[in-house]
Amino acid sequence: MNLSLKWLAAATVGAVALWVFAADGPADKAHKLTTISPRKFADSLHAVIAADREAYARLVVERLAVDAGQMKVSQEWRTENCLPTHAQLLREAAITIQERGAEFSYTLRSLWPINPNHGPQTDAEKAGLDFVAKHPGTNFYAEESLGGRSYFTAIYADQATLRSCVSCHNQNPASPRRDFKVGDVMGGIVVRVPLEF
Ligand code: HEC
Repeated sequence: MNLSLKWLAAATVGAVALWVFAADGPADKAHKLTTISPRKFADSLHAVIAADREAYARLVVERLAVDAGQMKVSQEWRTENCLPTHAQLLREAAITIQERGAEFSYTLRSLWPINPNHGPQTDAEKAGLDFVAKHPGTNFYAEESLGGRSYFTAIYADQATLRSCVSCHNQNPASPRRDFKVGDVMGGIVVRVPLEF
C-alpha cells in the first residue's frame, strides 16, 4: 500500500469545496460555492455519527436491558430474533452511504476489537488510536495517501459512556480485553475525507 503520512499537518491542507443548494431562491442564486476545511467537515460528520450512536445506545439498548425478557441486541441479528449491535448498525449505514456515492467514509476501530476487522489498518489509524486512548479529550488528525489518493483522516475517541458498553464488551468471548470501566476509551471512530475530488 502506498502510504505516506504527514502527522498533524491537517491545518495546512486545502479546503473541501461543497455546493450548497438554496431551496427556492432565484435561478442565479440557486446554488453557490462555499468552502469548508476538511477538518471542519470531518468534525461535523463525526458529530452526527456520535449523536446517532448515543441515541441508539440510550433509547434502544439501555431500554432493552431493563427488561431481560424483551428482545436482545446481538451480533447474530441476521439469523436470530434480535436487533443488531451499534457496530453493525454503523457499518450498515456506512455501506449504504458508500453505495450512494459518498466520497467520505467512516468506520469503528479499536486496539481491543471484538471484531478483528476493527483493528487498526493503517499507520495513521494505529497512531490515532494510541493517541486518543491517552488523550480522550483531543482528536487526532493526519493526512494519508492510500491507493494513490490523498485523504484527510480524523480519529475521535469512542468512550464507554454507559455501563452497557462495558458489560457487553467485557462479557463477549471474542473480546481481547475484559477489564473496561465506564469512562475508558474503547476505540475510535475514523472519518476519512478525500483531499481531491
Ligand atoms: C449489546 C452489546 C454491546 C454494547 C451494549 C456495546 N457494544 Fe460495542 N460492540 C459490540 C460488538 C458485538 C461489536 C463488534 C460487532 C461487529 O462488528 O460485528 C462492537 C464493536 C465496538 C467497537 C469497535 C471495535 C470492536 O470491538 O469490534 C467499539 C469501539 C465499541 N464497540 C465501543 C462501544 C461503546 C463505546 C459502547 C457504548 C456506548 C458499546 N460499544 C456498546 C457489542 C456491544
